[in-house]
Formats: sequence, C-alpha cells, structure tokens
Amino acid sequence: MTPDLMKAGTEIRRARDEKSMVESGSGGRQASYGRLHKPGTLDVSHGAILYLDDITVSFDGFKALNALSLSISAGELRCIIGPNGAGKTTMMDVITGKTRPDLGHAYFGSTIDLLRLRENEIASIGIGRKFQKPTVFEQLSVFENLELALRADRGVRASMFFRLSGEQLDRIAEMLTLIHLKDSAQRNAGLLSHGQKQWLEIGMLLMQDPKLLLLDEPVAGMTDEETERTAELFLSLEGNHSLVVVEHDMKFIGELTQNGRNGKKVTVLHEGSVLAEGLLSEVQANEKVVEVYLGR
Ligand SMILES: Nc1ncnc2c1ncn2[C@@H]1O[C@H](COP(=O)(O)OP(=O)(O)OP(=O)(O)O)[C@@H](O)[C@H]1O
Ligand SMILES: [Mg+2]
Repeated sequence: MTPDLMKAGTEIRRARDEKSMVESGSGGRQASYGRLHKPGTLDVSHGAILYLDDITVSFDGFKALNALSLSISAGELRCIIGPNGAGKTTMMDVITGKTRPDLGHAYFGSTIDLLRLRENEIASIGIGRKFQKPTVFEQLSVFENLELALRADRGVRASMFFRLSGEQLDRIAEMLTLIHLKDSAQRNAGLLSHGQKQWLEIGMLLMQDPKLLLLDEPVAGMTDEETERTAELFLSLEGNHSLVVVEHDMKFIGELTQNGRNGKKVTVLHEGSVLAEGLLSEVQANEKVVEVYLGR
C-alpha cells in the first residue's frame, strides 16, 4: 500500500470518528443494538412514508414526547413548528433510532418497523438527517465532503480503493451547482459561511439520495437571501423526496407552504404531542396555538 493510500484511509477513518462523535448523544432510553433484523423494502402503496403512533419518550419521568402520532405522505414536504422544548428534535431522534421510545410505533412505509432497526440501518434504508448544528468536515474541501458522503456506506478498506466514476463526478458537480457552492469546491469547508456550511451538509445528505429527509432548523443563522434560496431548494426536492422540516423562522415556513399546490399542512407540536395541524393560516389563527406562542 502506498503512503498516500494509507493516509487517505486514516483521513477517512478520522473524519468518520469525528462525525460520529458530533452525532452521538444520549436521550430517552439508549437504543439497544442487540437484535439483528433485515430491513424490509419500502412500501408506500398506502400513501404514508412515515407513520408515528402513540410515541412516548420519558427522561426521568418527564415526557419529552407524549403519545405523539403523526403521518407523512410520500413526496410530502411537512413543516413542523412549536415552541422550545416541544419535542421536535426528540421526535427526529426517535425516527432515526438515536432514542428508543418507551411506548408507541414508528413505521417507514407500511412494512419497516423503525423501532427494530439500528441507527446506521435506518440511515442506509433512506432516512437522512440534518442536525441543528452543521456537521461538516472542516479540514476537508467542499468537494471532498461531498465525495465522502457519496461513499459513506462503504467500509474504510473499500473506500481506500474507491475511484470516482465519471457519473459520480457528474453527480458531485450537479450537487455543487444545486447547493450554490460551485465556486467554493476546492475551499476548506471550515472557511465557509455558516449558511454555506448548512448547504454543504444538505448536499452531503442528498448525495446519499434519501427517500425521507429530516431537517432540524436548517436556516438557523442564515441571511435572508440564503434562507430564500434554501426554501427554493427544498421546494425543488418535494415530490421526489419526502421532507420533514422543523423551523422557528416563520417567514421561511411561509415560503415553503404558500407555494403548495393545494395548500400544505403544518404541524404544531407542544409538550410532546400534536397541538394543531392544518394550513399555516389555520394554525396561526388557532387559539390554542396563539396561547402557546404568546405564553398566555
Ligand atoms: N437527553 C435528555 N435528557 C433530559 N431531557 C431532555 C433530553 N433531551 C431533551 N430533553 C428535554 O425534552 C424536551 C424536548 O426537547 P427537544 O430538544 O426535543 O425540544 P425541541 O422542540 O427540539 O426544542 P428547540 O426548539 O429548543 O430545539 C425539553 O424539555 C428538553 O429539555
Ligand atoms: Mg430542537
């Protein structure tokens, strides 16, 4: 093995370790990894790509999620809002296998029981997640970050001997254009603006072509222009992907929902369950929602 290859392998490993450190955390009952189950195939013939039923997560007796039920249709872009501590991030932790609920059911399509899968299995069947803080590899270039995402499911050894095909190079080039980072391809990710880092992470997620994307406060810290571009990007993904977007930025939620064909549903979470669901105008006029937000 040439020193170059060894170095590449070490880099990839180190980068992965960093990523798993950033992403590891605790909450609820830690996922138990004792069981091995083969993921089934995704069946969305009944319309829903994600189905949560009666999910409860307790932290020392405090219910972060309290009998939460929610269903997302295939191809839907669903916005989820709610005050701090409503349980939005915890909900994503349950969907991605990071936190096991005490009670309830979670299905991907109508056949895949998410509560029986490990975190890495859930990622590999097509559920991608963007965390609240951007988690990109700061020492690697923008291009290398996307390259790494493309081969993320290979073992370290396979990655070392992996060569990008012409088709894969084209995909990276397309992604650079889509996330407006074409001119920064060779820059270190650490030098990007906060908004650009958010985009790069979204691009890294998309390289893995997830069927369902979970985005936790994707426009936090972005400028108005970056926020608008992000709304355009998400709207362009709708249909081919299903998206669950958690945000506090109501202007952004407005941009995502007003363009909806027949109006798009917004879900309001509060104290671990659904407080209201409907068109943005409907939930904004809902008395219970107004009370929660104004703290009356
Ligand atoms: N690991 C944990 N241990 C104890 N309590 C936790 C843990 N994780 C979350 N919580 C609590 O659960 C509740 C829901 O938290 P969560 O992070 O899901 O809220 P959120 O809706 O994402 O809020 P925000 O809008 O501030 O991001 C909060 O009261 C939080 O303090
Ligand atoms: Mg949160």
